[in-house]
Formats: sequence, structure tokens, C-alpha cells
Amino acid sequence: MNDMNYKCMNPFEFTLPTKVIFGPGCVSQLAEEIQNVGGRKPLVITDPGIRKAGIDRIVTDLLDKAGVEYSLFDGVEANPKDVNAEAGAKAARAASADFLIAVGGGSPIDCAKAVGVLLAHDAEFIKPYEGKTAATLPNPPLITIPTTSGTGSELTFSSVITDTKNHYKMTVKSPYTAATTALCDPKLTVSVPPAFTAATGVDALTHSIEGFTATCSEPIGDAAALYSIELIAKSLVRAFKDGSDLEARSNMLMASMLGGISFSHSDVASVHCIAEALGSMYDLPHGTCNAIFLPFVMEYNMDYCIDRYARVAEAMGLPFDSNEEGAAKAVEYVKQLTVDVELPTFASLNPDPKDFRTLAEMAYNNGSNGSNPRPMEIADYEALLDNVYKAGI
Ligand SMILES: [Fe+2]
Repeated sequence: MNDMNYKCMNPFEFTLPTKVIFGPGCVSQLAEEIQNVGGRKPLVITDPGIRKAGIDRIVTDLLDKAGVEYSLFDGVEANPKDVNAEAGAKAARAASADFLIAVGGGSPIDCAKAVGVLLAHDAEFIKPYEGKTAATLPNPPLITIPTTSGTGSELTFSSVITDTKNHYKMTVKSPYTAATTALCDPKLTVSVPPAFTAATGVDALTHSIEGFTATCSEPIGDAAALYSIELIAKSLVRAFKDGSDLEARSNMLMASMLGGISFSHSDVASVHCIAEALGSMYDLPHGTCNAIFLPFVMEYNMDYCIDRYARVAEAMGLPFDSNEEGAAKAVEYVKQLTVDVELPTFASLNPDPKDFRTLAEMAYNNGSNGSNPRPMEIADYEALLDNVYKAGI
């Protein structure tokens, strides 16, 4: 475990500005939290899927009951777009909203963070705020109410937004984007359909494994990642098979948050570089793309993080006699998990092999490429895309 000891001595900073309230039924504390954040009139940001499921009504009923005047913006698409954030900021200004409430999965929450950046900087376009240093002013207060277990966006510092002009996913990564309060109520996740439970759950697993093995990992995030992996190993298949299993849903929501703590203080890596390229080119679900590539990138990285993958295997509850055996078992476990929760193969998503070079270039140019434990060049990404595609035919 020498690499662990070495990394623990690296200097780091750890900030977690979001107040987390967690537990079945805790969404009922919304009015109290609005008083705590000091807001008067919120813009509720959500998406059409949440509205169709009626989950936004749980929140707006609470606002009505508390006598809070609000406006609602539901123009957030999957893989949220720059134009969605810009329209959301316009809606907030038109409504004279002084704080934001995001209800939904990663898309509405990431979009709300970007809306907050636009409001804080009195800006029209989000593109200039890409990166880690461009956002220089605190966002207005944001209450996040997650309805899926995957992104951890309810407490991360990242807002991933699709640049529709240049067709790639840009990230605004700043503690200024972090929510003021995250109201994490597992009851709001029980109606998530099995396929979505699977994809978002493996997204959380990817955050934890990539966060734990990234070149810039740090020990507090590592601890969060390992507990996240343990919870996912215990609960993802259960939540997939029986959505009403509240214990499994609670474990998955907590795992998602812990994965978020891990990667926001460390980074994601090559799995996300590929998934974000695929998401921006084909508008494919983020979690599904991660799930497809996670075991294959782990295989690619194997020789560079045997000890860390053995710790992953330990968190998964797998027995092993050597770190080499443990690391190999961790990869096999992830492969089997994606089968058990019926995630699709890459080929079944109908990608065009002619696009693989461009996708490889996009992945290579992703800001998280340098965080992968084993360096990946454009040719390595292209070979991986090709191999994973052929493996699924
Ligand atoms: Fe992700």
C-alpha cells in the first residue's frame, strides 16, 4: 500500500460548503431551509420528466403551504445545454427571483448552478465561465432536492453544461456553484425506473472509483469513495430489482453524495472523458456511457493502480489473497454488475465507428484526461472505443 501512504502526505484543501439534510421525508423541511438561506422568491428549476412524474408538485405544494411566492422553469434538457441555463437566467430575472431551488437529477441541478453563475455575474452567456477560475462571485442561494442517485450534483462544485456551438461538454468547477443546502430525501427516488436506477447508480460508482484512483486524489475524498463503493455493492442491484426498497434507495442516495464528495475534491478521469464526448456528440445518457466504459478503462489502468483497485475490491466485500487478485476481481465485479442491472452494450447504442477518431480527440482534450492514473493518448482512446464497440457486437 505504498502509493496510499505517499498520497496521504500530499498537501490538499477540503471545503464542503453545502449543508446536507438527509433522511426519508426530510423534504418537508423546505420552508425552514428557505428561512435559513434568507431567500424571498425562488425560481424552481426542473425538467419535463420530473413534471410528468409529478415530483415537482411535492415541492411546489410545500411552497404554497408556506406562502412562498415562486416561479417555475422546466426548460432543462438531458445533458443540459448552455441555452437552457441562459433561458433559466432570463426566467429568474423576469420573475425577480432572489434564490434558486433545483428539483431533479443532475441535469436540473447542474443547470441551476449555471443559472446561478449567470445571475451572480450579471451575464447572458455561460461559456466565459468555463473552468476552475472564471467564476469569481458567489452564486445566489441554491437549495438542491435530488430525485436520482447518481451525480452527487446536489453537493458538488461542478456544473457540466453542453456547449451547443462547439458540441462538447464544458465544466464550470467552483465552490461558488455549490448548493447552500441539499435536501436529500430517499423517498423522492423510489419512483425512478429500473433502467435509470442502473445507469445513475453506475455513474455514482464511476465517480467513486475514478475519484479514488485519480492522480490528484486526497484522503478525505478517498474515505468517502470507499464507503460509497461499499454501499453501492450492497444496494444497487436491490434498488434496481425493487424500487420501493427504501433502505436500498437510502444507501444509493448516500453513495451518490459520497461519490460526489470524492470526485469534486479529486477528479473524474478517462471514463468520464469518453462519456462526456459521447454525451455531447450523440446526446446519450451519461450514466449509461460511464457504465459501458468503466470496466474497460479499469482494465487499461490496471498496472498503474493494482493496490487501489484491491482497496476497491475490499470495499465491494470481495475476498482475495493478493492485491493483484483483488484488483482483477474488482474489474470482473463491475463487468458482472453492468450485466446484472441490464445496461446496454456500446454497439447497441449505434455509434458510428467513423466518429471514433473525433470522439477520441474530444476525450483526450477533456480537462480530466490528465487525472487518469495511466496516461491516455488519442490513439489509446480510439483503440478503446474500437475494442469496446467490437466486444458488444
Ligand atoms: Fe458522472
